[in-house]
Amino acid sequence: MTSEVTGFDEQGLLARFNERFGSANTCLHFFSPGRVNLIGDHTDYTGGVVLPCGIDTGTRLLTQKNPDKRFRFESSNFDFTADLSIEQIAYTHGKHWVYYPLGVIDQFRKRGFEISGVDCLFSGNVPNGAGLSSSASIEVVTAFAINTLFNCELSLIELVKIAMAAENDFVGMQCGIMDQFAVTMAQQNHAMFLNCNSLEHQQVPLNLGNYNIVLANTNQRRELDGSAYNERVAQCATALDIIQQALPVKALGELELKQLQTHEHLFANDKLAFSRAMHVCAENARVNAAVDILEQGDISAFGKLMNESHDSLRDLYSVSSEPLDNLVAIARKQEGVAGARLTGAGFGGCTVNLVQQQSVQQFIELVGAEYQTTTELRADFYVIKPGNGVRQLIL
Ligand code: GLA
Repeated sequence: MTSEVTGFDEQGLLARFNERFGSANTCLHFFSPGRVNLIGDHTDYTGGVVLPCGIDTGTRLLTQKNPDKRFRFESSNFDFTADLSIEQIAYTHGKHWVYYPLGVIDQFRKRGFEISGVDCLFSGNVPNGAGLSSSASIEVVTAFAINTLFNCELSLIELVKIAMAAENDFVGMQCGIMDQFAVTMAQQNHAMFLNCNSLEHQQVPLNLGNYNIVLANTNQRRELDGSAYNERVAQCATALDIIQQALPVKALGELELKQLQTHEHLFANDKLAFSRAMHVCAENARVNAAVDILEQGDISAFGKLMNESHDSLRDLYSVSSEPLDNLVAIARKQEGVAGARLTGAGFGGCTVNLVQQQSVQQFIELVGAEYQTTTELRADFYVIKPGNGVRQLIL
């Protein structure tokens, strides 16, 4: 347990908790980070591999049980608040942030845990809708806190599954397991190599030498509740059905690129499914290669894989956008840049860039200016440090 979390107005949060719920001196404090995926996008729901890391911004939660059997949610980021009875924990379609914690509580209850009532004050400093998993961060911090408050004694993996099920069932996005897994298990200064089929994972030291991870936010807002995302999930399921006519694979993520290419003829009537599968197989190969390359500290080879990943997400998977492509193209022209790609689901959100430390300032200025001229959008930049996963804070 640790309290080294910065960027929050601690006194303001305590005062608000006290004013709204009372007893700020005895409430419990939790934090869950956001995540950035370094490479391996749109592979998790095919049982493939990914390489995300936690970031140093995320979601703070101040919480306590209450005796009056109410579920009360407030946030320093949104005006919308809720004060609900247990019967009201049912999903109605909408976009309020409270559906994330409600979905998590619903999952605990579905597993037979008696969750009587809680007061929750959230505060987030991950930009929303930016591809940095602000939603997984809220889900996981809620799951971790409920597990602690109600002594459920669930393992971290169980909490990951609860958070993911909340997103799938309650929010309606058929996401894979990467985001919830990453924000739960992340380790400072490491990336996490995760096999989304077996859930075997390995912490890979991030030997970035004098390179920094710089995120650039297109500020093109994504809405990911998410027909385009769910459509990609369905297309991969179709590709799997097609390949299973010839090969006994259980998941698309198990398939080698060569095997897919050998069976291209099976896709004569569904070229789109073939493109999607090509991306998945090649992206998995890149993630596997990236682990060895990172271990050797070969940043320029890693950057090349990042570039290939973006191009594949753009051309084969069609999840990039004009602002993302612009931001990536402008970034790649700059001095000291090893690689640039979209990160996360795409359709807007952020790019991840590896930039030499001495060039970071210039990168932010030049990329920001050219991006604005080209797109009339203003980019935001964040230089991030790979941080730890969800935890209780002792203040
Ligand atoms: C979103 C989903 C993840 C993953 C990424 C794309 O972040 O929540 O499960 O599919 O998109 O890699």
